[in-house]
Amino acid sequence: ATERTLSIIKPDAVAKNAIGEIIARFEKAGLKVVAAKMLHLSEEKAGGFYAEHKERPFFKDLVGFMTSGPVVVQVLEGEDAIAKNRELMGATNPKEAAPGTIRADFAETIDANAVHGSDSPASAEREVAYFFNADEICPR
Ligand code: CMP
Repeated sequence: ATERTLSIIKPDAVAKNAIGEIIARFEKAGLKVVAAKMLHLSEEKAGGFYAEHKERPFFKDLVGFMTSGPVVVQVLEGEDAIAKNRELMGATNPKEAAPGTIRADFAETIDANAVHGSDSPASAEREVAYFFNADEICPR
């Protein structure tokens, strides 16, 4: 089915000037960018986004990292977009990510792992709405 998923290009990948290379991978895989913006997240915005991890030991570092520089948030649309995006990203820990995946190619650590992608239809719906109003999404 056609799905939408939220993608974030994280501060490490933005700092590496890899925004275009990462978006090119989505487009080459048939995913379409239907919304996009660059943001420097506040602690409150990053903490709210990752609220489900609030009790995890890495939460503070995660919020610190995600607010350390600008990010690019996008809505990707396409056939099985959620799973396709996760395949393109590779495992959360870049050391375990399959060769040729975004995290294998652009990330070194589990904290600074280049990209985020929604992990289920329910989280995609929540995450897209967390960053975009309906009128900021451009069906195409
Ligand atoms: P992301 O998909 O953005 O979701 C939560 C992030 O927490 C994850 O990517 C990692 O960058 C970061 N993180 C740090 N340590 C861990 C861990 N032990 N397990 C899962 N995620 C972690």
